[in-house]
Amino acid sequence: MVQQQTLFDRFLSPVFNILLDREALSQYRHSKDWEKEGDRFRQPGLVYPAYYQQNFHGVKQGYLNIDAAVTYDPITQYVLPPNEEWVRKGLIERIRCQPRRILDLGCGTGSTTLLLKKSFPQAEVIGLDLSPYMLLVAEDKAQQAKLTIQLQQGNAEKTGFPDASFDLVTASLLFHETPSIVACNILQEAFRLLKAGGEVLILDGNQATLRQAEWLTEVFEEPYIKDYAAGSLDAWMGTAGFGDVRTEEVWWVNQVTRGVKPLPYRKVEFSDFDANGAWAVG
Ligand SMILES: C[S@@+](CC[C@H](N)C(=O)[O-])C[C@H]1O[C@@H](n2cnc3c(N)ncnc32)[C@H](O)[C@@H]1O
Repeated sequence: MVQQQTLFDRFLSPVFNILLDREALSQYRHSKDWEKEGDRFRQPGLVYPAYYQQNFHGVKQGYLNIDAAVTYDPITQYVLPPNEEWVRKGLIERIRCQPRRILDLGCGTGSTTLLLKKSFPQAEVIGLDLSPYMLLVAEDKAQQAKLTIQLQQGNAEKTGFPDASFDLVTASLLFHETPSIVACNILQEAFRLLKAGGEVLILDGNQATLRQAEWLTEVFEEPYIKDYAAGSLDAWMGTAGFGDVRTEEVWWVNQVTRGVKPLPYRKVEFSDFDANGAWAVG
């Protein structure tokens, strides 16, 4: 017999149905005209990549479905053990620079974007996402928190921002949602966008754990998570040109990978030293 229902339908969906405050969600869903307000973010000429226009988490059209945006935060709090904020802080705590300009790629409903702004209040923080509905939720959260962030629709593979215009580029929970070729393109784009010495930090599922616990890659209906689990963020970052690459486990199920855009290399010349052999440059 062919199994019609997915693991998500059979196990997770009923659990979430119990946990979610359906009344509050329905009120929020009907509090605005999502299509019309989404126009504020829609960029003319933006083409959604093919990988993006399919079902994620059993939701038709994935993040281009309003219900996906409305239910994202209430569900996410239960899938980042032991505590969503601690996991997100795993990224913040590993930032070493004092960034003045930050770009959060695939910012979604802005949970990490807002933490970045709280942690670096002087910085200009920009969140970029393909989904106008996720951006609308992020905008509501920023207003509630009284935090000023910029939110923009765009593709993380090709953002359109100028070269070397950011000190810090981040992405949380984005890479397990993309084919690995897209993850590599996004890292190349992050490299282009960073100033020399700038940092990239990626928070996502722990690739080693996901390889060991295959059921984790089955249960959430993620079309690309197996591809992500089979890969290596360390290797992808190295290929994109980043140095000082290091992955650290965050509460077993997640990881943060950090890399630095190297400073330009210059060959040392004899003329760089004075007659006593001391360094004579600058
Ligand atoms: C799982 S959500 C993560 C959202 C948020 N960063 C967080 O930590 O909760 C993945 C997000 O990536 C966005 N996304 C996927 N591919 C993208 C791309 N190529 N460019 C920009 N955003 C993308 C989706 O629209 C979605 O909002």
